[in-house]
Amino acid sequence: MTNSDPGAAERRERILRAAVRQRLIEPDRAVLAAFVDLDGVAMSVAALRAAFPDEVNVLHTFAAKANCLVPVLEELRSLGMGCEVASPGELAQALAAGFAPEQIVYDSPAKTRLDLTQALELGVAVNADNFQELARIDEILTARPSASRIGVRVNPQVGSGGIAEMSTATSTSKFGIPLDDDGSRQRLLDAYRARPWLTWVHAHVGSQGCPLELIAQGIAKTVAFAEEVNTLLGRRQVTVIDIGGGLPVNFLDDETTPGFDTYVKCLQTHAPALLTGEYQVVTEFGRSLLAKNGFTAARVEYTKTAGGRPIAITHAGANVATRTVFMPSSWPLRITAHGPDGSRKAGEPVPQDIAGPCCFAGDLLARDRRLPMLAPGDIVALLDTGAYYSSTPFHYNSLPDPAVHGVRIDSQGNVEFLPLRPAETIEHVVARTGR
Ligand SMILES: Cc1ncc(COP(=O)(O)O)c(C=O)c1O
Repeated sequence: MTNSDPGAAERRERILRAAVRQRLIEPDRAVLAAFVDLDGVAMSVAALRAAFPDEVNVLHTFAAKANCLVPVLEELRSLGMGCEVASPGELAQALAAGFAPEQIVYDSPAKTRLDLTQALELGVAVNADNFQELARIDEILTARPSASRIGVRVNPQVGSGGIAEMSTATSTSKFGIPLDDDGSRQRLLDAYRARPWLTWVHAHVGSQGCPLELIAQGIAKTVAFAEEVNTLLGRRQVTVIDIGGGLPVNFLDDETTPGFDTYVKCLQTHAPALLTGEYQVVTEFGRSLLAKNGFTAARVEYTKTAGGRPIAITHAGANVATRTVFMPSSWPLRITAHGPDGSRKAGEPVPQDIAGPCCFAGDLLARDRRLPMLAPGDIVALLDTGAYYSSTPFHYNSLPDPAVHGVRIDSQGNVEFLPLRPAETIEHVVARTGR
């Protein structure tokens, strides 16, 4: 590692100090801001690409839900990614970011007839979630042919990972068509037989908390289903397997583990037919591409003690770290303490609560966290928040969404910020609440 390629902690500190100098974090006016390390994003995308064998034709799409900011999507497009969307809003964001319809995959368990009509008119790929949706697609295609590639999301029913709420391949999951329920597989095979345009099979086993083995077992069942369709029909009707996303992220330290390469090796073991080159593969990673490439910085407004416990009241709570606040044991975040100039704070670690600004007692980023004693004017950094944090706000208490800044560091170590999203003003807040 060279001086111009500092370690992750040093790099964050450099960014934070520059952000303070450039007044992207300051008292009163910019008490909360998020940062996305665009150099890091490019490296993550490169690692994803490198993990798959050259002979496999892969469309890597980014799951827009993980960070739907249009400039972030534009950046990912410029890196050669496609985009997975799961609502009309995300579809509009992907189009605004310049993705061509053939680079877009539309998932969602609740597409309306209008959503489907528009998606099929545009020619984006569509993964149907259930038999009723397939019947709607039949009707739409009868009226007008479409260039869309169309598939079905299956539920391989392999069970839950460590976070039940993130596990989408349980026996009773709301997503996809279950493969193992009585009669379901046969009905699905019949559906493929009746619809020669059903050329994809899709599964997303789950997100954070799902072990690689579990995900790979789910993909293996999905590939086996695709093979069964093709064998039964005596033709290679299914040509594309969309394996979803779900690579878990390490929130404990700066190691990026497991890597995409480890996951692909696991797929090779469990589902070798996926990676022979016979199928086109689609991926839909979100968290694993962005989480470790972002952090959120919040100023400490006040400090106090209650019942002998030190408490730092900051501007980051459920507003930007909703999952962490409501499900702290599933979504713990690392927090670092910095002085008002952004430099890392020294001092004996003292257990303290790191609280947010929202008006409920549970609005805590961390309980009893050992950090150098915080003081008003200090800054806390919430690490690994590039996915599903500041871009996934919680609007309780009408707090404005913070600015999100892209960051690049050049070979001389100069930090350059690029606007990804401006901070909301109070006028914006009033506008989104009816005036
Ligand atoms: C269908 C689908 N694809 C991809 C993703 C992205 O998952 P992750 O961010 O864990 O990679 C999700 C997440 O919910 C999803 O539901």
